[in-house]
This record gives sequence, C-alpha cells and structure tokens, in this order.
Amino acid sequence: MTLLTLPTTPYNDQRPGTSGLRKKVTVFQQKHYLENFVQALFDVLPAAQGLTLVLGGDGRYYNRVAVQTILRMAAAKGYARVLVGQGGILSTPAVSAVIRAAQASGGIVLSASHNPGGPDGDFGIKYNIGNGGPAPEKVTEAVFARSQQLAEIHTSDSADIALDQLGDYRVDGMQVTVIDPVAIYAELMRSLFDFEAIRALFAGGFRLRFDAMHAVGGPYAKALLEGELGAPAGTVVNAVPLEDFGGLHPDPNPVNAEDLIAHLFADDAPDMGAASDGDADRNMVVGRRFVISPSDSLAVLAAHAKLVPGYRQGLAGVARSMPTSTAVDRVAKSLGIPCFETPTGWKFFGNLLDAGKVTLCGEESYGTGSDHVREKDGLWAVLFWLNLVAASGKSVETLVRELWTAHGRCVYSRHDFEAIPTDKADALMLRLRAALPKLPGTTVAGCAIALADDFAYTDPVDGSVSQKQGIRVILTDGSRVVFRLSGTGTEGATLRVYLERHEPDATRHDREAQTALQPLIALAEALAQIRASTGMERPSVTT
Ligand code: G1P
Ligand code: ZN
Repeated sequence: MTLLTLPTTPYNDQRPGTSGLRKKVTVFQQKHYLENFVQALFDVLPAAQGLTLVLGGDGRYYNRVAVQTILRMAAAKGYARVLVGQGGILSTPAVSAVIRAAQASGGIVLSASHNPGGPDGDFGIKYNIGNGGPAPEKVTEAVFARSQQLAEIHTSDSADIALDQLGDYRVDGMQVTVIDPVAIYAELMRSLFDFEAIRALFAGGFRLRFDAMHAVGGPYAKALLEGELGAPAGTVVNAVPLEDFGGLHPDPNPVNAEDLIAHLFADDAPDMGAASDGDADRNMVVGRRFVISPSDSLAVLAAHAKLVPGYRQGLAGVARSMPTSTAVDRVAKSLGIPCFETPTGWKFFGNLLDAGKVTLCGEESYGTGSDHVREKDGLWAVLFWLNLVAASGKSVETLVRELWTAHGRCVYSRHDFEAIPTDKADALMLRLRAALPKLPGTTVAGCAIALADDFAYTDPVDGSVSQKQGIRVILTDGSRVVFRLSGTGTEGATLRVYLERHEPDATRHDREAQTALQPLIALAEALAQIRASTGMERPSVTT
C-alpha cells in the first residue's frame, strides 16, 4: 500500500451552495470530480495528524463509491482515525452527534438531502466542523477558491474496506472504525426525552405513522420508535434506505409525502403522522386531518419546551431563518427570550448555538433543531412532538390551535418556481432589487408597503456579514413577501416566494391558506412579474 500523487485539472463549478456541493450523479462521476473537491477541502484544512474524521451519508447512489475514495484520501491527508457508519450510512444529525461525542475535528456528509437520488438523480458532499455543524462560509469559499487552483490529488492504492462489517480496519497508516450508525444518536435522544412517557403513550393505543421515504431515517426511526418506545411494528413505513429512494422524492412536505397525507386524512387516520427526508434532518409533522406549517411547529415546540426533560430549564433564546414565519417571534416575546433572524441555511445557526444565545431554531423548509447537535434533526422533532403530546395530554391539532388562539395565526405558504433558465431568474432578481428603493411608502396591488430591502445579516457572535440573502417586502400590517433563489437546486434556477400574513381573528383561522394569502400572491406577481418573465403559469410546488 503506497500513497499516490495524481495530476488533475480544476473544475470551475465546485462552489458549495446553501448546504454543500450538490450536483447530478453524472457530474460527480466525471474523472476526479469528487477527488478534486475533497482535495480542495483537505488542502484548506489544517494538518490532520492525530485527528479523527467522521464519514457517512444517506445511502443514495454513489455513497459507497464515495466513502471508499474518501477513506483513501483521508489516509493520504494523515488523519489518525476515521469513524464511518456501517454500510456508509449516517444521517446528517447522526454525523453531527458523532462528531461531538467523539470529539472529532470534523465530518463529511454524503447527501443531496431532499433531492431525488439514483443514477440520474443528485449526489452531494458537505463538510462539518468540530462543533458538529456545517462549515461556515469562510471555509466553503476557501474550498471553492482552492478547487480552482488544484493540480494534484493525494490518495493511496489501498483496497476497499468491508464497509458492512462493524470493527476496525487499516487504510495505510490510518485506523478506520466502522460504527453502528444509530447507537450514539439513540443515546443522545434518550438523554433529552421522556421515553417512559412516550412508551406509555403508545401503550395506551396512540397511533403514529412515520414515513421514512426509503431514506436514511428508516433505521433510526425503527430502532427508536418500534424498538425502544413500543410503537407497533409497521408504525415506520418505507423504512429501508434505497439508493434511489424507491423512485420517490424524499422531501417531507404535503406534495411529496402525499401517501402519508392520504393516510392522515382517511377515516381511520392515525393520531399523528411524520416524515423525514433523504438525510433525515428534515421533518414534517401532521395531525389527524390537520396539516401543520413548519413555522408553527417550531413555535409550538418553543412554547412548550419546558415539558421536555432536556429543555426543562427553559430556552436561552430561539432563532429562525428570515423567510420563516414570525410565529416563533411571538412565542419568544411572551416567554421573554430573544429571537434571532438569520439567513436561510443551518450554517447560520452554529455560532448562536455555540455561544449559548439560542437553544431552539428552525426554518420554514421543514427543518427544526436545537443545541443538542449542530444540524436540524428530523427524528428529534418527531420525538419532541410525541413528548409534548404525552406530557400535555393534548392532540397535535389542539397544540397548534392553542398557539393560534394565544398569538394569532401566521398564515404561511411557500411557492416554488423550479427549473427556470438561470439568466431569466437572475434578471428577475436584478429587476426586483433595482425597484426596492422606490417601494416603501407606495401601494402596489392594493398593498401598502412599509419596508423593502435585500436582507443582510451581521453575525452577532463573529461580526461576519452576509449580503443578498433574500428580497423582502414588508407591508404596513406586518405581512411579508420574500423572494430568493434556491442555493440547493441542480437544474436551472428555483425561485422561492414566501408569503406570510398574520391573522389575529380566531373566527378566520380556518380559512384556507392560499385564499387568505391571495392579496400577497397578487402583490408578488405585480412586483416580480413571475409569469411573464418565466412563462410559468403557476408554481411547480406549493407548500
Ligand atoms: C433549502 C431550504 C433551506 C435549507 C436548505 C438545506 O435551501 O430552503 O431552508 O436550509 O434547503 O436543507 P434553498 O434551496 O432554499 O437554498
Ligand atoms: Zn436534508
């Protein structure tokens, strides 16, 4: 076994987006494409002698090939040890948990999250730092810069290891330990939630349907919900991770998890439904014939956190991404704790969590998490809800309705316009940006505009500034329309339009969201002329 240095030439498209580098599998299969990105990362990181790296992914197509390739490169980089999940499997929150528990210097997550998988689907790679969270922008930008200068790859001619067998291996001078993907994560969950109370809930006949969408959440949900908490066999469906997610789109929202929604609206519907995404960091929670907006879910968790053992002492503060609804702000205000507004993407929560400024955080995109790891965490959110239901004796729907009664309802929706030609999407954003200074004080489509800007964020911990994080137009009554381009797509551009309107009147809380949001939908169209400039008559996905 010898270390090898191979010549390579740079690719110019290796800039990580909202959450790592995501491309079509066929792009990753180009010669040295993966190797180049990993080498650029390793070149940017300090020397690895004596350090531990965590490695695993969501099991999608190309996961296994990538694991073996990265092990050889990690040996050449000089890592003392790599902890890799059995079969190459580790959910994103589990990577975060293992990095923290093992005091590793960082970890590599192989996933394109909720994007479809398979040979024609997407693949992705992301680096997490020693706190367990996504690398901040200064690291990802340095990796991108390095990727454009690359001339050599350092690897070895070591053979593949037996990834499916737990135990210790050697790749050149480096130790590789194949670990149980669930154990460390499960231990962490036990330390946070009242497992006795949840067990009693299931023993009393409470019915849950957890749809793992043939993704990596399956083994975790099976082990905890069915294995430990006594939920009946069959509670977790689509539990075996498949390389192509069974051809489904592993994105837990009412559109892609339509089978789950159908079950929750059937006559014999279970009490609660839940789903997680490709890498198990997202969650959707559904009540019996009752859909919940992720922004409301975050607010409910914040409002009742003291019912959960791990949060009994109360929350230091909460944070939400800018486009997420202000429901959690209202709860924070009533609790007398700070609420931070960050740009989209989990990496912006890391500093706040590390500094102890926030305990709970979330995004409108079905992401919720806390300071237990530095990623959003799908199964954690489901356990949190189960704990709340068990401790309060209230149904999922009642908990949400009580939130609305106390604070008004933040009616919310996101409209996605997918696969727009990039030049058209860029032109639309440019036009919007140019119009911003003139908007405040005017009335457009019957809406009185109070503020219009391009969201910029100064990190309260390290002072770093992130510009152009989404165009927001705020009305005099606090309603908002936000426009931004996705940073995770792999085909053309995706325009996201986020709509929020506060409804204090309880007699109007049951109005259908799209109807209630109609004035804002008209405003968005008037401002951005989405239909005229994209040719799309309606959003591709509405959540
Ligand atoms: C999307 C979501 C964002 C989330 C990210 C990773 O990013 O909108 O909230 O953090 O996926 O799961 P986007 O495609 O909008 O850049
Ligand atoms: Zn994900």
